[in-house]
Amino acid sequence: MIKHVQKNPDQQPDDTAPLTDDYIAPAPRVSVQAYCETEATAAAIRSAGEDRRLAKAHLTVKMGGVATAIDVYSSVPTPNVIVLETNGTNDILAGLDELATVCDPGTRVVVIGTPHDAAPYRELVRRGVSDYVIGPVNPLDVVRAICSLFSASEAVALGRIIAVVGAKGGVGASTIAHNVAWAIGRDLAMDSVVIDLDLAFGTGIANAVFSAERLDTTVMERLLAKCSDHLSLLAAPAALDRVYDFAAEAFDSIFDTLRLTTPCIVLDIPHQWSAWTKRILVGADDILIVAEPDLANLRNTKNMLTILKSARPNDRPPLYCLNQVRMPKRPEIDARGFTKTIEIPPIASIPFDSRLFGTAANNGQMIAEISASHRTTKTFLQIAQRLTGRGDNKKPRGSSLGRAAAFSRGACA
Ligand SMILES: Nc1ncnc2c1ncn2[C@@H]1O[C@H](COP(=O)(O)OP(=O)(O)OP(=O)(O)O)[C@@H](O)[C@H]1O
Ligand SMILES: [Mg+2]
Repeated sequence: MIKHVQKNPDQQPDDTAPLTDDYIAPAPRVSVQAYCETEATAAAIRSAGEDRRLAKAHLTVKMGGVATAIDVYSSVPTPNVIVLETNGTNDILAGLDELATVCDPGTRVVVIGTPHDAAPYRELVRRGVSDYVIGPVNPLDVVRAICSLFSASEAVALGRIIAVVGAKGGVGASTIAHNVAWAIGRDLAMDSVVIDLDLAFGTGIANAVFSAERLDTTVMERLLAKCSDHLSLLAAPAALDRVYDFAAEAFDSIFDTLRLTTPCIVLDIPHQWSAWTKRILVGADDILIVAEPDLANLRNTKNMLTILKSARPNDRPPLYCLNQVRMPKRPEIDARGFTKTIEIPPIASIPFDSRLFGTAANNGQMIAEISASHRTTKTFLQIAQRLTGRGDNKKPRGSSLGRAAAFSRGACA
């Protein structure tokens, strides 16, 4: 598949852009070797190699273009993907013909050209080039070109992972994760799964992690408790006799399996900073930080945003929302104060309402079930739309949900 990519090299990830238009699914464990003519392209490719979506790929960059590639592969096998930069002067078609004589079948070739390339596209296609990108390229162009080699042939679309985390413990991150997932499932009719990653005290994913090596879609389906037509909860009994100190990659295979069958996976991440929580946050498609309107939360939100933004330079920045605002008698830093320090506004401010949230918690219900017309219910729907990039194009269904009341943390198991 050949694509002409016209772009602005200075383009930054846009945090307001609709997500669905440019969703890039992560690449599988593949080897990618790049041969560059210019230092700028080499730098863009190296930085693409740091992107979360290429975390599993093994990427190397060499200088020298197609000539060097021919040289190298006359003695060693070719990788899954070869990226070649042309400098507009050498004859890329003759180079590709020669490369074909040493290239293993199955290796895909991506060409990064210049606006002045003489080679006609159809000649590149005839030579089996998988993708053609007009330079200068930025890291995201490279990520997109490599990932789309694999996702385009995939029969199933891969699910999007949304991570919700508190700026401090007890701010309401789990409550928001569940209510937003509920809105995604019910109002946006997008099948979703909530995974409570509070391993010791939550409903728990622990058993799935401990049996990760035997995990496949069937096993996963059994672990999933259906909560409503479009929402499931990955539930396994909590077990305090284990120590929850995982290797950073412990969850990779679970998420890979879930992604194959579930369009939307909402992760309820406990407020703790460990190798695995950081890896999950960095690897998520989108992040929502939940903060209470005080100084400690402001400071933590800012720090988390700084770390996550630098670990995800090609993604839109994490989003954050304020929760429990206007609690009586409590002095607070309002949305304007947060915006001033953090430089991006919160996507929502959810009022403190002990009666509403207390009733929901005690009955094991969602806020929407207590009051479908409540302002906070609408806020959860707006957050759901913002995170999934889906507009309000579907009419919400009636409120009679068979197992609605059973959906609470733990009640589904
Ligand atoms: N806007 C709100 N108004 C009043 N109470 C709220 C609000 N949001 C959440 N709560 C309540 O705050 C408590 C803590 O919520 P929750 O368990 O979701 O927080 P958390 O950030 O996940 O905590 P933890 O750090 O323990 O995981 C719950 O009892 C919940 O009902
Ligand atoms: Mg929680």
